[in-house]
Amino acid sequence: MNIAVVGTGYVGLVNGTCLAETGHQVTCVDIDIEKVEKLRKGIVPIYEPHLDVLFQRNIKQKRLIFTTNLEEAIENAKIIFLALPTPPGEDGSADLSYVIGVADQLGKIIKDYKVIVDKSTVPVGTAEKVSATILKNATVDFDVVSNPEFLREGFAVDDFMKPDRVVIGTSSSRAKEIMEQVFKPFVRQGNPIIFMDEKSAELTKYAANAFLATKITFMNEVANYCELIGADIDMVRKGIGTDSRIGKRFLFPGIGFGGSCFPKDVLALFNSGKEVNYDFKIINSVLKVNHAQKLKLVEKVKNYFGEDLSGHKIALWGLAFKPDTDDIREAASIYIIKELLAAGAEVNVFDPEAIDNVRNILGDKIEYASNQYEVLNGVDALLIATEWSVFRNPDFDKMKTLLKNNVVFDGRNLYDLDLMRANQFYYESIGREIVLE
Ligand SMILES: NC(=O)c1ccc[n+]([C@@H]2O[C@H](COP(=O)([O-])OP(=O)(O)OC[C@H]3O[C@@H](n4cnc5c(N)ncnc54)[C@H](O)[C@@H]3O)[C@@H](O)[C@H]2O)c1
Repeated sequence: MNIAVVGTGYVGLVNGTCLAETGHQVTCVDIDIEKVEKLRKGIVPIYEPHLDVLFQRNIKQKRLIFTTNLEEAIENAKIIFLALPTPPGEDGSADLSYVIGVADQLGKIIKDYKVIVDKSTVPVGTAEKVSATILKNATVDFDVVSNPEFLREGFAVDDFMKPDRVVIGTSSSRAKEIMEQVFKPFVRQGNPIIFMDEKSAELTKYAANAFLATKITFMNEVANYCELIGADIDMVRKGIGTDSRIGKRFLFPGIGFGGSCFPKDVLALFNSGKEVNYDFKIINSVLKVNHAQKLKLVEKVKNYFGEDLSGHKIALWGLAFKPDTDDIREAASIYIIKELLAAGAEVNVFDPEAIDNVRNILGDKIEYASNQYEVLNGVDALLIATEWSVFRNPDFDKMKTLLKNNVVFDGRNLYDLDLMRANQFYYESIGREIVLE
């Protein structure tokens, strides 16, 4: 089948590549000329494990091609996937201008029946809006389908190739049949394709993200309480996670959720509620608690060194919003760095993949190291913001020779307390006792 993917960011590129991998002829289109040039040269512009191999195979076999020309991309396509940004607008609700802008263009250029699939995370009612926008100019039949994307950055290829479920919102039997054909190869192990109406599909994505964000935030609040009463959040996590009604996942305490999805989607759902006079009280609290949690390490640093951090040099391990990605959108690290700088500290950072992205935002306001030890040279404290595997078993003796003070503030609870005690570190983590207080 000929397929077009509009927008080749994290979602579009993974979708396009994985669809080509199942034998489809895929044309990806993006307005970013530089990105398209890189893709044409065989360069993957994002860091996403396992994507490269599939990408190279499919461009070599010419099943995956790239263009900046929308008309050319959709000409022969039966399905057009929209994987466009939906960033928060000024009031926090999802900015639909990218999606509606492309829909407007599509109405003018489609020449035969197309299934137009919304992959972007969008508020309830967007399929209707997209449909109405296309209809203004269209002279042929088309269907607009909601097919929210559940992939996780860092596991995107696996998530796409073997999804827990595929959600497809459509009231058209013609579109349903085509979508089923496309997604069948990905659910051969028996995971379901769940068909529903467009609005329920759109809400499913927001509800899933808001639920997971709430689970994380709930644990962060319990962790904060543990610190005050002397309980250990790791024990509490194990204690409740073994209850099958609760489950083990998304219970790790830390310095809040970030990334390109949870923060904006939770905010967008809250704002969608307001539009119909519904006050989502839980998710409003989630947003507030999460914001404070991002600065938890700075609070701990200030309690230790004092409010004024001038003359102090602080190192940061981890910049990406989570491991195995170079994505820094809404990452706790950025909030932390800005607070530390505002308090007068000098900041040195290291991340295995995300340094270039941070350099684009913060330039020479901070220093960038080329490895996890270099960044520690002469610093007063180490802060850990992302749980990259490479930080899990560091050479503690080497760390001690480099750090000015053996002080670690760990936002991801990477180390056993006894290990840090044995290694003579002052060690603060989240929801656990302070070592060598
Ligand atoms: N990143 C994730 O993990 C993830 C997961 C699930 C859902 N989503 C959702 O999917 C959507 C896309 O997310 P993303 O992370 O891939 O975004 P992204 O910002 O990485 O990529 C979007 C791409 O669209 C391109 N673009 C913008 N306007 C265009 C136009 N008119 N024509 C063609 N291309 C255009 C941009 O240049 C960019 O390359 C969002 O709604 C997001 O919430 C993202």
